[in-house]
Amino acid sequence: MRIDILTLFPEMFDGVLSASMLGRAQASGLIDIRVHNIRDYTDNKHRKADDYPFGGGAGLVMMAQPIYDCMDAVLGGEKARRILLTPRGRTLNQKIACELSGEERLVLLCGHYEGVDERVMNIIDDEISIGDYVLTGGELPAMVLVDCISRLIPGVLGSEESAADESFSEDLLEYPQYTRPANFRGMEVPEILLNGHHAKIQAWRLEQARLKTALNRPDLLRELTDQGESIEAPDDAWL
Ligand code: ADE
Repeated sequence: MRIDILTLFPEMFDGVLSASMLGRAQASGLIDIRVHNIRDYTDNKHRKADDYPFGGGAGLVMMAQPIYDCMDAVLGGEKARRILLTPRGRTLNQKIACELSGEERLVLLCGHYEGVDERVMNIIDDEISIGDYVLTGGELPAMVLVDCISRLIPGVLGSEESAADESFSEDLLEYPQYTRPANFRGMEVPEILLNGHHAKIQAWRLEQARLKTALNRPDLLRELTDQGESIEAPDDAWL
């Protein structure tokens, strides 16, 4: 997959894109991520990329011209799904991430200041927010989006890691995990995980996942029940 990121702050991406899983995925050729400085496409001598809003109001608005020219230069007539990161977009979730991970090419435009000239919407296919809070710009949201899409691309996660058996893949939060030692400062690993009985371990994990979901995200359980799935309460009192 190819991802182009259009931003006024390219340096923000340096560490994030080169470290860990994203670094490996790029080194192995599974994803090709390129960051472009919108300011390089300004056509005024001060390299100004933002201006006052028509009609007045606080803050500056990102100008259409540098964004259009940057987009044209990056795409060169090629097709891509073009996404603006903005708090007014639809909220990112695992389903949207899965859908986007199937695209061949994405362009992510990081919004800034008080917003982006509305005429830019003519070259945008999708608006995405990472949650109901306002950040200083779309750079961190773009990093979140790239990270969560990349790990869904086949081959990006190592064989021992799995994108299937985890929080949100089945609308339940993840069950608790333990590693050695079995006793840490007097805290024991649940006995059931030590006895190697696969079916019992699976049942215990499902129960724990439901418990965690009921405690932290009861809205997810309600969504499941609304879809007609029957959710049985675990043995212990948990609601
Ligand atoms: N820009 C500022 N806040 C944002 C958010 N929550 N999601 C996406 N882009 C943003």
